[in-house]
Amino acid sequence: MVVEYVSTGISGLDRLLMGGIPRGSVVLLTGGPGTGKTIFGLEFLLRGCESGERGLYVSFEQDRDMMLKQAESLGWDLQKYEMKGLFSTLNFHMPEHHVVDVIKRIEKEIDRFKPDRLVIDSLSVLSLYAEAVAAVELSRMTKAQPQHLPPRLITMGAVMGLLSRLKQKRITTIAIGEVPEGHHGLTRDTYSEFISDGVIELSRDEHGKRLRIVKMRAVRHDEGYHEYEIKNGIRIKITGRRRKR
Ligand SMILES: Nc1ncnc2c1ncn2[C@@H]1O[C@H](COP(=O)(O)OP(=O)(O)OP(=O)(O)O)[C@@H](O)[C@H]1O
Ligand SMILES: [Mg+2]
Repeated sequence: MVVEYVSTGISGLDRLLMGGIPRGSVVLLTGGPGTGKTIFGLEFLLRGCESGERGLYVSFEQDRDMMLKQAESLGWDLQKYEMKGLFSTLNFHMPEHHVVDVIKRIEKEIDRFKPDRLVIDSLSVLSLYAEAVAAVELSRMTKAQPQHLPPRLITMGAVMGLLSRLKQKRITTIAIGEVPEGHHGLTRDTYSEFISDGVIELSRDEHGKRLRIVKMRAVRHDEGYHEYEIKNGIRIKITGRRRKR
């Protein structure tokens, strides 16, 4: 099969990826609070819209108006693409549905909107939320149902099922994962980095913000740390000099 590469449109990133992300990959974007994950996700969809690709933003954190405002502050008119039917959002608020129902709604929207690009913001919130709901359900159950799985396993199964169906449908996906400040490791849940086709890490310290491509299946990518700034989007400074941790 010939691999088709999807340009991220993020300044400097396609070069580090030697072209882009293989179409249909699920890429985990991980980073601490305020590192620019949401902006990255919005820009990935915006750049797709600019070349006629449909983008769906699934958010557990911000509603549509908030996202459009964030985009506007960066000089992006996502509303224009929304009106053209190229950009759409799906928001979840209270943890009142079971993870299986949340995932069903996401998949229903995917079947309706048929996105080429998808962002999930964030997988960590989806997982935490799913575990909490599953735990409550479990606590309600009687001893008559010992075959019921622990919440963490229910969550893992549901999330892994979703990711594998996205790959089957060849929807290029940025799944955002949060890392608590001071946490060593790529994700809070510690499994999504293994089931993703790619991992891009955003980090921040007293010297500034840095991006690293941790893995990208089917791509001979750059492995260094690269400084970036948030200025009309994510801008990676390519200097040729790589900073080590
Ligand atoms: N219009 C803008 N111009 C420049 N920088 C901005 C602009 N809007 C936001 N920022 C910067 O981007 C950061 C937030 O980016 P973003 O919301 O994408 O981060 P995040 O990683 O998604 O955060 P969280 O973990 O809270 O979800 C802000 O802390 C601010 O520094
Ligand atoms: Mg965010």
